[in-house]
Amino acid sequence: MKHVLSIADLTSKEITEILNLAKKLKSELKKKGANSPLFKNKTLVMIFEKPSLRTRLSFEIGMTQLGGHAVYLAPSDIGLGKRESIADASKVISRMGDIIMARVFSHENVREMAAHSSVPVINALSDLEHPCQSLADVMTMWEHKRYLKGLKVAFIGDGENNVTHSLALISGLLGMHFVTASPKGYWMNKGIVAQAKKFAAKSGGSISETTKPEVAAKNADVVYTDTWVSMGDEAGKEQRLKIFRPYRVTKRLMSLAKKDALFMHDLPAYRDNEVEADVIDGPKSVVFQQAENRLHVQKAILVRSLQK
Ligand code: CP
Ligand code: NVA
Repeated sequence: MKHVLSIADLTSKEITEILNLAKKLKSELKKKGANSPLFKNKTLVMIFEKPSLRTRLSFEIGMTQLGGHAVYLAPSDIGLGKRESIADASKVISRMGDIIMARVFSHENVREMAAHSSVPVINALSDLEHPCQSLADVMTMWEHKRYLKGLKVAFIGDGENNVTHSLALISGLLGMHFVTASPKGYWMNKGIVAQAKKFAAKSGGSISETTKPEVAAKNADVVYTDTWVSMGDEAGKEQRLKIFRPYRVTKRLMSLAKKDALFMHDLPAYRDNEVEADVIDGPKSVVFQQAENRLHVQKAILVRSLQK
């Protein structure tokens, strides 16, 4: 079963195939205004325990553009684990739908769903990982830089974060140099770091962590940040805003990176918290291209998952 629960479920070869297919689907859509209806009579079931703009749009529009259909189940619709057990819901959904995507609070929930599903399950964000995002991120880097191996990617802010974790793993797989700058106590999950370092040792990349934003940003090809208050972290909001204050991506910080460095953010963004408005709305920012690439990459992931 071709589940994508973690970016580590894919090999570097499979990631390259997904990127090539996403590029092909993107240019086909731009040139002809449509893609071939590969998913005629196919249905994607989308389960959301949290809000979403990009993820829902990219999966739902992606299915439409490939001639299929997507069903949206809002947090209140099925009451996952409350109205019905994850196991029962998963068995029912996979008898009707052809593929499942789930955005969940606990990563265990998406694992459990996959364990009971007879169709592929895609993690559309959990507390641990956001694999679909990291694929769109590397696609965007690739479009700008023309290569990925050897790029230095600096992540500034919340290290203990789904987006950071998937970026670390994909960097390790693809031979990039990934460095996070986060306050002590907000560094990446140790298991993720160990796994990413193992990949990096094979690919020629590297994974490192520091508390100093300047060290991370120096000579970086990409400076990346994410919200300081992820969905589920709201209870500690006031404290987090104080702790992360020195980790804002400013124009001064960007000036330490390479001249042609990109600024990236998975969005939604909170201007003047994690990033200065001048940076995210400035010439180095590629955040909307990144958001658009969610659509193209999502379609490629769906195609891969439904391939026999
Ligand atoms: N980046 C991202 O996943 O956005 P949404 O939460 O809006 O889906
Ligand atoms: N880390 C953020 C990503 C949002 C797309 C969150 O989990 O809320």
